[in-house]
Amino acid sequence: MAEARPDKDPDAGPDAEALDAARRLFAGPCDFIAGAAKADSLPPAGLPEVALAGRSNVGKSSLLNALTGRKALARTSQTPGRTQQINFFDLGHRLVLVDLPGYGYAKAGRRAVRSWSRLIELYLKGRQPLRRVLVLIDARRGIGPHDKTAMDTLDESAVSYQVVLTKTDKLGKDEGTAEEVAERVATEIRGRPAAHPEVLVTSSATGTGIDNLRATLAALALPAQLG
Ligand code: GTP
Ligand code: MG
Repeated sequence: MAEARPDKDPDAGPDAEALDAARRLFAGPCDFIAGAAKADSLPPAGLPEVALAGRSNVGKSSLLNALTGRKALARTSQTPGRTQQINFFDLGHRLVLVDLPGYGYAKAGRRAVRSWSRLIELYLKGRQPLRRVLVLIDARRGIGPHDKTAMDTLDESAVSYQVVLTKTDKLGKDEGTAEEVAERVATEIRGRPAAHPEVLVTSSATGTGIDNLRATLAALALPAQLG
């Protein structure tokens, strides 16, 4: 594995070796292990976990599918609020990817929204193997009030998280480049104690940023078995 090198440009992104290792990890098996709609149906904690959080419709399931190269590993839908349970996927017995229900979808009814948030909060605050939460933000919409509330919770609970911009292929000319949006968002979250300073740029539709995100996730996974 590549060690952090003092002479390495921090903006250079993962090196070829890291990208290659990540590609191998994500080319391997990825299997659904459990869906939990209630706290008592969470699978036993084991491998390191990375969870995808974000508003309904932000593209969590699509990103999971793009990362794993499967068209329908996680169900995607044009109807917000479709993913109503926490879904766990085992990636090569080295990392568990966790698809969280979207927050901020009012039409599901107040009670439903509340119970999803309670389950998510319980999971986020109490999950020992949780290494990082990816907070997905629609590049066109930026950080909204629900995202701020979610990041407040993560900051208060000292759960490490990283912002990932989604749907960057949909940015219009007058909205700036994905990198400019990422810079604005990075400035906005500066000072949040549990936020990773680097904001990642992705598009599940075109594949932009997927390799980089894979490398970020591979660095959080258990090391590959030798031999
Ligand atoms: P919930 O499970 O309801 O919280 O939604 P989600 O966050 O899982 O969103 P999902 O992946 O289902 O995507 C919602 C919609 O956005 C779908 O119509 C996707 O096809 C679309 N979408 C997701 N990612 C992208 C992207 O990178 N580019 C474009 N153009 N559309 C996307
Ligand atoms: Mg979903």
